[in-house]
Amino acid sequence: MDETLLTNLTGTRDILPEEISSWHLVEDAAQEIFARYGFQEIRSPLLEATELFARGIGGDTDIVGKEMYTFQDQSGKSVSLRPEATASTVRAYLQHTMHRGAGLTKLYYIGPMFRHEKKQKGRWRQFYQIGAEALGSDHPAIEAEVIEMLLHFLESLEVKSRLLINSVGDGNCRPQYVELLRRELEGHQAGLCVDCRRRTEINPLRVLDCKVESCQPIIALLPKIADHLCADCDTHFERVKSHLTECGISFEIMPRLVRGLDYYVKTAFEIVSGELGAQNALVGGGRYDGLAEVLGGPRVPGFGFAMGLDRLVMILPQHVHARGKQLPEIYLAQMGDAAFARARSIARMLRNKGFACHLEFSGGSLKSQMRQANRVGARNVLIIGEDELAHDRYPIKCMEDSTQQEIAPAEIEGYLTRQRESRR
Ligand code: HAM
Repeated sequence: MDETLLTNLTGTRDILPEEISSWHLVEDAAQEIFARYGFQEIRSPLLEATELFARGIGGDTDIVGKEMYTFQDQSGKSVSLRPEATASTVRAYLQHTMHRGAGLTKLYYIGPMFRHEKKQKGRWRQFYQIGAEALGSDHPAIEAEVIEMLLHFLESLEVKSRLLINSVGDGNCRPQYVELLRRELEGHQAGLCVDCRRRTEINPLRVLDCKVESCQPIIALLPKIADHLCADCDTHFERVKSHLTECGISFEIMPRLVRGLDYYVKTAFEIVSGELGAQNALVGGGRYDGLAEVLGGPRVPGFGFAMGLDRLVMILPQHVHARGKQLPEIYLAQMGDAAFARARSIARMLRNKGFACHLEFSGGSLKSQMRQANRVGARNVLIIGEDELAHDRYPIKCMEDSTQQEIAPAEIEGYLTRQRESRR
């Protein structure tokens, strides 16, 4: 047998049933909290024209240059699996003329992204993001509100993190800064890694987020972009910081934070978690006022973020994982054909009333059925034996405290409801 057929591709993975409840928990929390801030969900295709990403994210970025899954479809058109969803969201916003509506449009998405990166802990080739984009406002207060929503969401999941921000300037001030950086870097070529020597020519800003040890002393000496902002970018950054402070949000200024996508202007930010290890970025985001124009639309200012869902699930506290677990509330153990028929009718009645029931089919001994009830994490076991059928009353055992009592089928709904309430 060809073993490769029994193994998923490197950098992809199966999210198994025991893990999925944590994913649902996180997705439900995002949907619930984002809606409170007026964000609506958008689902765009996983496959888009390659050109959308090449133009939107930038041809010289690692994402477009090295990491995209690109191929020609049957009609010869170059298409790519989306490496991120900001470009797709702006494309959809323009295509469906959402910009003609009044004011701000707030969209969020949840779904898989694809990047052919080197496999590492916390880094996959198919990974998932929850992202949000606020389109149509230049106002610095919108940035504080989006970040407040993000922190509200993370706090609801008891995830501890740090907010790092910077301004990366705009088309007015960044070109001069990039030139300055290039000149500085030209004097340090011998000490730089191969990638940074190449970056000096094509994209000197990328040198700032190089992680190679030997480049760090040189990076530390480079001029900071914050000292070279034009008046507009400088004022904007000051106002973002004061809005964050007014919202009670603490942040750290990171002068070297430039992000790996070309569309950012002014504010760029990351949320990092010490629990993630080397790949410590949980969220990346920022302002991208020029993206809509680059794609051929009118000027539409935008601000947003995307969070790595795989990484978020990795660092959820244990007791928060447990919150999402959907355990069977009752397991129906039965012995004999008549007992099975009664168990099936009780299961049907309880499922119609909204309870999660596990009906055993194996016909094994009571002992093996109790073991199975434990394995599936059932909260209660109803034991239906042939002898009890005559009175239609059965022992019910609470697996949490091992208490047992006799119950009629009509009373089970009340019993499970009281138990649910005591868990709240
Ligand atoms: P990004 O920084 O490329 O930004 O990705 C955002 C987050 O996605 C990262 O912080 C990380 O948690 C997660 N992520 C990225 N690559 C991987 C990977 N290979 N494996 C696992 N997780 C990963 C963007 O994608 C922008 N579109 C964010 C944005 C939205 N900016 C404005 N709006």
